[in-house]
Amino acid sequence: MPDMNLTTRYLGLTLRNPLVASPSPANAELGHLKALEDAGIGAVVLPSLFEEQLLAHRESIDAILAQGEANNPEAQNYHPPLALDGPYGVGPQSYLELIRTAKAALDIPVLASLNGSTPSGWTDYAAQIEQAGADALELNIYYVPIDIEQPGSAIEQRYLDVLADVRRTVKIPVVVKMPPYFSSIGNMAQRFVDAGANGLVIFNRYLQPDIDLLRMQLSSELQLSQPAEMRLSLLWTAVLAGRVKCSLAGSTGVETVDEVIKYLLAGADVVMTTAALLRHGPGYISTLLADLDAWFEARQVGSPDNLRGVMSHSRLRKPDVYERANYIHLIEHYASSHRR
Ligand SMILES: Cc1cc2nc3c(=O)[nH]c(=O)nc-3n(C[C@H](O)[C@H](O)[C@H](O)COP(=O)(O)O)c2cc1C
Repeated sequence: MPDMNLTTRYLGLTLRNPLVASPSPANAELGHLKALEDAGIGAVVLPSLFEEQLLAHRESIDAILAQGEANNPEAQNYHPPLALDGPYGVGPQSYLELIRTAKAALDIPVLASLNGSTPSGWTDYAAQIEQAGADALELNIYYVPIDIEQPGSAIEQRYLDVLADVRRTVKIPVVVKMPPYFSSIGNMAQRFVDAGANGLVIFNRYLQPDIDLLRMQLSSELQLSQPAEMRLSLLWTAVLAGRVKCSLAGSTGVETVDEVIKYLLAGADVVMTTAALLRHGPGYISTLLADLDAWFEARQVGSPDNLRGVMSHSRLRKPDVYERANYIHLIEHYASSHRR
């Protein structure tokens, strides 16, 4: 455990440090969550419960009730088939149980996650998540707008409607895991906050299919992120920090302490990782914390607050590095250094 005081505020919660384990299948296991806590993590986000699971669960219950089996005592113990248990084998009921057991076993904040794409009845499940004791709720609205008739404004409204549904349902902090594909990211961030988001995860990492040339078919192998992928999140964390009135989580591409420090410098309140933990296991958090401690010590940083946002857009005297001027400068520089 590090000596330095790394205490961090996120969503009004107090974390012992800014490292947060973002959702992954591993976070569905209590042993893994406990190992993360023992290694020093600041907070954990449970894997998502999916809209498709919730709707399928509801339909199956409705079907049973429609058959008049509700009066049958066996129906009271009805459990939905495994197929409804989503990608992690954690169905709606066991998800609530996971929240309760995680809350009972851990001292750190436990965030839950809902994952869907339509503003419909499934969002009322957020109330049960709140009752089960989650400290906050992350909302992953994963929507791929393949309908070419659909204008951008309709897509933006869809996101805001889902958020509004959830916001209406719970009092706990709600975080939107933002996609990086809106035409005006800053304006959307602002509108999420206006609609009641207490925090934004910058960004959700969308998974695109590849083409397998040997088999001549689409493949969707999930590849873990690399640090080079962090730049888009870094840019927008820096642009939004201090300008939108909510917590910010830097997410994507964290592998070493360098990425953690970069996100803090850009202005993130917390820094999330999934890939590093899947690659190296939960104990890796203690390595990241020791490295963070050493980095702070060597530069006499004192606390994360002294670092946070120092490189953000609003704090730089010449923030053009985040703008078009830098794009031209980079191309000029490349061209002149490669001129024969
Ligand atoms: C195997 C796997 C499963 C994931 N499951 C979820 C999930 O259930 N809900 C969610 O919001 N994000 C999920 N994610 C996304 C991660 O939480 C994270 O946002 C993404 O991996 C980018 O962060 P990283 O670069 O630190 O890996 C998953 C990622 C991976 C690799």
